[in-house]
Amino acid sequence: EKGGYEHFMLKEIHEQPRSIRDCFRGRLNVEKGWVGLGGIKDYEKQLANAKRIIMVACGTSWHAGLVGEYLFEELTRIPVEVEYASEFRYRNPIISEEDIVIAISQSGETADTLAALNLAKDKGATILGICNVVGSSISRVTDAGSYTHAGPEIGVASTKAFTAQVTVLTLMALTIARNKGTLKESDFRRIITELDLIPEKVSRILDKNEKLEEISKVYKDASNALYLGRGISFPVALEGALKLKEISYIHAEGYPAAEMKHGPIALIDEEMPVFVIATKGTSYEKVVSNIQEVKARKGKIIAVITEGDEQVKGMADHYIEIPETDDHLVPLLATIPLQLISYHVAVMRGANVDQPRNLAKSVTVE
Ligand code: F6R
Repeated sequence: EKGGYEHFMLKEIHEQPRSIRDCFRGRLNVEKGWVGLGGIKDYEKQLANAKRIIMVACGTSWHAGLVGEYLFEELTRIPVEVEYASEFRYRNPIISEEDIVIAISQSGETADTLAALNLAKDKGATILGICNVVGSSISRVTDAGSYTHAGPEIGVASTKAFTAQVTVLTLMALTIARNKGTLKESDFRRIITELDLIPEKVSRILDKNEKLEEISKVYKDASNALYLGRGISFPVALEGALKLKEISYIHAEGYPAAEMKHGPIALIDEEMPVFVIATKGTSYEKVVSNIQEVKARKGKIIAVITEGDEQVKGMADHYIEIPETDDHLVPLLATIPLQLISYHVAVMRGANVDQPRNLAKSVTVE
């Protein structure tokens, strides 16, 4: 049942080239220059005309929502708010018939997310879902939605569901952008061509498993860890930190790299591993200076970099190279090595990776 892998989590991490491809099967045609999501076809016009979109979710799915916020705002210019479902529902949120609320949930059973949706529905909003489990409560209560098609996720720590959620959000943003005319044809073509190459690039990162295991060995006894990223990679930092804390029980925090100087920098000493997503692209130079700030305080840098980036290689204590891709798609690649490091660290510490203490696969309590 674990397909020869020691744990479901490892199996599910390795399934990602396939689960991402399954997610865009029939929804993406590079030759024809086309994307579409059958499940939300009837809502395409409404999405394109939306004045704002609200995403509600919990945990890892909330991180996917934050990636979605960057994608939607950048590609469609529609303002997006991403809310913790639990905070949204207890706040008498300002919401009307004009709003579109998108729930993101692997299980489709998370009590807070379901309640947030019902609240939005009562106020007349259009409610859409991005779920993995077919026929789940959330998928039944929504007006429409798109499944992630990642296949069953057994490990409590969400891995392949996250990358599939991000893939659906990318397809949604591209579809809306197409309908709104907010994306140049050449940019659209470039992004879908790159999206189609993601599964193969994920495989190339998975091939670095041995190196990732080596890095994990060095930091397995850490008591704290920081994860830094900027822009669309900030949610990747949050997700990296969550993955480490929930299965290895090491205290970890994700931060937007520039926020470090407003507090967390006080924590940095030679004992502190700092994972930095430092891929080439918009905020590259800024991230390089954040790395220098950490080095100046003797922190240890583990950098996720674009293949062939000699500059950060020279500064980092350890680096993981990931293939070059379009800026919008970096989360789909940068997440992978962080998942594997969390996995290895947890195994080395003797933790039960598939069933971490105090956690349940679907949180049906409020
Ligand atoms: C983290 C994790 C949780 C879930 C959260 C939402 O690895 O598994 O944080 O992401 O409980 O669950 P779903 O997506 O089923 O609503």
